[in-house]
Amino acid sequence: MHELDQLVPENAKVLVLFGGGSVRKNGTLEKVLAGLGSREVLEFGGIEPNPQFNTLMKAVDIVRRENIDFLLAVGGGSVMDGTKFIAAAAPYQGNEADLLKHGFEWLPIESAVPLATVATLPATGSEMNMGAVISHESGKLPVMSPLLYPQFSILDPTLTFSLPPVQVANGVIDAFVHVLEQYVTYPVDAQVQDRMAEGILKTLIEVGPITLAEPENYDARANLMWSATSALNGYIGVGVPHDWSTHMIGHELTDLFGMDHAQSLAVVQPSLWKIRKDKKREKLLQFAERVWEISEGTDDERMDQAIDMTRSFFESLGVKTRLSQYGIEPADIANVILALETHGMTALSETGDLDLTITRQILQDAYA
Ligand code: NZQ
Ligand code: ZN
Repeated sequence: MHELDQLVPENAKVLVLFGGGSVRKNGTLEKVLAGLGSREVLEFGGIEPNPQFNTLMKAVDIVRRENIDFLLAVGGGSVMDGTKFIAAAAPYQGNEADLLKHGFEWLPIESAVPLATVATLPATGSEMNMGAVISHESGKLPVMSPLLYPQFSILDPTLTFSLPPVQVANGVIDAFVHVLEQYVTYPVDAQVQDRMAEGILKTLIEVGPITLAEPENYDARANLMWSATSALNGYIGVGVPHDWSTHMIGHELTDLFGMDHAQSLAVVQPSLWKIRKDKKREKLLQFAERVWEISEGTDDERMDQAIDMTRSFFESLGVKTRLSQYGIEPADIANVILALETHGMTALSETGDLDLTITRQILQDAYA
């Protein structure tokens, strides 16, 4: 953590942001504070998983009141995302809740407080991208701006050794689905992006079980960490179609039922493929062949096998893949559809053809 002293501007007044206390317990916070040397430092703890607008606004008040000019997020995706929102909201003159109304459009902001991260959970890629997802009473909403790229991020695998297994499994699945959303779409002859995507997927399949079984295996954890960052730092997504339907449907499941982000993805992704097999035929077949090494059977059989192997992979990590296993009732599906409608999520997918009728079929299939 000694690099912090070189990386953070010498005269910065720093706000160090963290979550519910894991970084206090495992000594990471102490190392960060030591790394910041004699700079003036304030702390803001208590950013919850799926960071809440109201919590973040308390930090915005501190940034304004104390003239903070550098934000350092120490935590997982929720802390990093929350910090990005704070960075955008603190200098914003209007109603801060309006910042949540722009979806994937870039925020109409002219400045943001510079931020950096010390990542403690490999999953979201937030440490190297410009996005955040913020929970508000009106929903779980994305925020994007190039002004929100971290100035730097420290990725030290040893800081993740204390993660509970469920969070490690979540991280593997989140990273896996980030790749799928940018890869299992339709072919555009993007050979480098495809092979990078396949490399990340194969790495996750290989190191996922190892890093769960051996939390302090440095090499396995390092490979998970770089896989997660590479899955959503933009590189594999350049010049290719993006889907993101699994994420958009998944965000509603988290918002309505409190499912972890990765649990929601593990439930939606296999069913989405089952219902959309024809749409995704060419890339699903490529995925089957190059990632799962399936070479026998008809096209349909190979696609089905790839979907089954993906579901089994998620389950082998201990993550359930059926809505019924999360205590959700069939009647609840109507609420998910309503929420998607309210949030304008009625034309999802790489071509915008995934409407609420298809989403309902996906969720019914995902039930059991
Ligand atoms: O809060 P603390 O006490 O720190 O505990 C956290 C939290 O309970 C714990 N944890 C983190 N690092 C730890 C640790 N426990 C022990 N040792 C460590 N080293 O893990 C729990 C979950 O943390 P959280 O940050 O919520 O998890 P994750 O990194 O999976 O982030 C999920 C959030 O990121 C958003 C999700 O929607 C969700 O809100 N996403 C952000 C994206 C982005 N910015 O690009 C993309 C993703 O698709 C995703 O939507
Ligand atoms: Zn995700």
